[in-house]
This record gives sequence, C-alpha cells and structure tokens, in this order.
Amino acid sequence: MSVRNFFLISLFLIISICTLHAKADEDFNGFVYAGCSQPHYDPGSSYESSVNSVLTSLSNAASYTTYTNITAPSTTPFVCGLFQCRSDLPVSFCESCIHDAISRLSTLCPSATGAAVQLRACFLKYGNDSFLGKPDNTVLYKTCGTPEPNGGYNDAELPGMRDAALGALVAAAAPPSGGAYRIGGSGYVQAMSQCVGDLSANECTDCVRVAVEQLKTECSLASAGQVYLGKCYARFWATNSNSNSASTYPPSIFPYHTSHGGESGKKLAIIIGVFIALAIVIVACSFIRRNGLVPGK
Ligand SMILES: *[C@@H]1O[C@H](CO)[C@@H](O)[C@H](O)[C@H]1NC(C)=O
Ligand SMILES: *[C@@H]1O[C@H](CO)[C@@H](O)[C@H](O)[C@H]1NC(C)=O
Repeated sequence: MSVRNFFLISLFLIISICTLHAKADEDFNGFVYAGCSQPHYDPGSSYESSVNSVLTSLSNAASYTTYTNITAPSTTPFVCGLFQCRSDLPVSFCESCIHDAISRLSTLCPSATGAAVQLRACFLKYGNDSFLGKPDNTVLYKTCGTPEPNGGYNDAELPGMRDAALGALVAAAAPPSGGAYRIGGSGYVQAMSQCVGDLSANECTDCVRVAVEQLKTECSLASAGQVYLGKCYARFWATNSNSNSASTYPPSIFPYHTSHGGESGKKLAIIIGVFIALAIVIVACSFIRRNGLVPGK
C-alpha cells in the first residue's frame, strides 16, 4: 500500500465518522405527513407524462437548490410542482430528502392527480390547481410532546420561554427572500419555522403567526410541538434544562428524550472512533511490514 492510498483511506474513514455523527442528531428524511387528491389519472395518459416530467425536474433541481417551482411543458396537461427544503441545511440534505419524498409518493399516492408530502427536512407538492405563489394557512398536521420526566423543567417557566421563543419567529426581521428559515430561543426552549419559497416575506410572517397561535393554544402544556400549514410550519422544543448544550436541530420524535438521544449519539461516536483508530493502526502496521519504515522503497 502506498502512502497516498493510506492517506486516502484514512480520510475516507474520518469523513465517514463525521457523516455518521451528523446523521445521529436527526432523522432528516423522517416521515411527517402526506396528502393525496381523490381523483386519479389513467396510467399511460398524457396527464401521467406531465406528472412524471414535473417530478423528474424537481428531483434534478434538488441537487443544487433548496426551493424551486416547475410547470409541465405547455404541450401536455397543466401540472405544477414545488419543493422546499430546510433552507439552513446544506443542499446535499435536500437532494437526499427530495429523492426519498418522491419515492414515498409513488407508494403513498399512486396515480393521484395531486399530492403533497412532508418529511422532516423537506416538503414537496404537485397538482393541477395553481397553488404556486398563493398563501395557504390551512392547518394540515400537528403534534404536541409531553415533558420529559427527568428533564428538570420548571413548569412555571416553560410557558413564558415557549411564548418568547415562538414570538421571535413572528418578529424575525423579514429576510429578502420568502423561503425563510427562522429561529427563536428563550431559556431552554428553542423554536424554528420554515416557509415555502413562493411566499413573500410578509406572507411568510402571516403564515408563521397562524402556526405560532396554533402551537400556543394546542400545545399549551407540552414541552414540544409542531404544526404544519399549507405553506409553512413551526416547531418548538424544550432542551434538557439540566444540560447547557442547546441542540441545534429539532428532535424527530414527539414525545422525545433529548438527553438520552444525545448520550447514545456520543457513545456511538466514541465506539466508532475506537474501531477506526484500530483500523488505522492495522493498516499502518501492514504498510510498515511491507515497505519498511522508509516510504517509497
Ligand atoms: C385537474 O384534474 C382533475 C382530474 O383529471 C380534473 O377533474 C380537474 O378538472 C383538473 N383541474 C384543472 C384546474 O384542470
Ligand atoms: C417559479 O420559478 C421561476 C423560475 O424558474 C421564477 O421566476 C418564479 O418567480 C417562480 N414562481 C414562484 C411563485 O416562486
């Protein structure tokens, strides 16, 4: 084995650990909800080719952008589609999430004339009604989480922190593009919201305001909650008040156990680290045995 190969293999192993560790934090492609239209198109119809062309274009665009809209070629029946990924994440997460969303649609909503699917880090929708550019504050899905028993939460503090964290999402200075990802935090409560990129900044704020009102009334006693509207969603979650490390990503599972997840993630990283150190030692030994201590001989 040459010195170059040795370094390439080490580099590959190190990148693998980092990726594994990042994935341990959240299941970005986790399923949230899906909705399918009642009407179905006929297999082999020109409507099907419109849908396929829109989905293929969306799938391709996910490799370079976190938001796009597509309309089928004008020679085929009208179908439009869009996707919005978490705009704070690298586009590689978007690509993987959108590919997953499209493959789930084919089993969840086979031959539906319109459908929408929300995974943890991305939203995708297509149909023949012109929803592009139109606000939609309909509540589609919501869940609340119960407080973790040993979370160390002070029940009296939680509502105030939650309202402050959520309030920051509505008050966030409107960013230039509508596809806004916003964060808020207060004490040990964190919040985030994401609008679909076809909304203006003001429409996004309106949508987030409705989501926040829902969370405050529906999840008033919870330590975590998420609500999804037609064109935006918002989530809040209490981090463990006993630990100082605030998690950057919302947890995937409601109800959830922040501290346990974090600990098992760390243990996993340590175990993998030990294995990789062993692998490097073994590779280095075999290199030295074959080539002697002087490289290039
Ligand atoms: C959308 O497709 C359905 C089913 O083919 C059809 O009934 C409906 O009229 C279409 N809507 C529009 C706006 O074209
Ligand atoms: C749709 O995409 C086009 C570019 O492909 C863009 O010019 C247009 O503003 C987008 N429309 C909406 C509503 O986002």
